[in-house]
Amino acid sequence: MAIRNIIQLGDPTLRKKSFEVTDFGEKTKTLLDDMKDTLIKAQGAGLAAPQVGVLRRVFIVSVDDEYYECINPVITAKSGSQVGEEGCLSVKGKYGTVERPNKVTVKAFDRNGKPFTVKAEGFLARAFCHEYDHLDGIVYVDKATDIQED
Ligand code: NI
Repeated sequence: MAIRNIIQLGDPTLRKKSFEVTDFGEKTKTLLDDMKDTLIKAQGAGLAAPQVGVLRRVFIVSVDDEYYECINPVITAKSGSQVGEEGCLSVKGKYGTVERPNKVTVKAFDRNGKPFTVKAEGFLARAFCHEYDHLDGIVYVDKATDIQED
């Protein structure tokens, strides 16, 4: 377990498309453990692997008492909309207003390669959408209608 460096907007890695995970081995488990430590230390709601410089389709989300590790995630359904504020650990000191679906269904694999489905709404749905975007090189500032200093 280790804290990894969170790269910041302007680093080209954040703009790349991540690759599917094909090996559910120790390397992926270590990545997830390190991402969890890193997220806790940074006190964020979610973290995607490209934010720690690893171009793999992996993210974690931690909202209230819910914690998810998603590997090769797919958003299979979206409905409704919500407009609210979000920030990103890769865009320090700022937050912005972003429209997101109010409900999403995410299908992914856990660290053991077992598939699972999660239905989320409200802020949890927002967190899933935000982290999912990172896997395609999209940062919330691309979608925000306004950006403010923290
Ligand atoms: Ni982010």
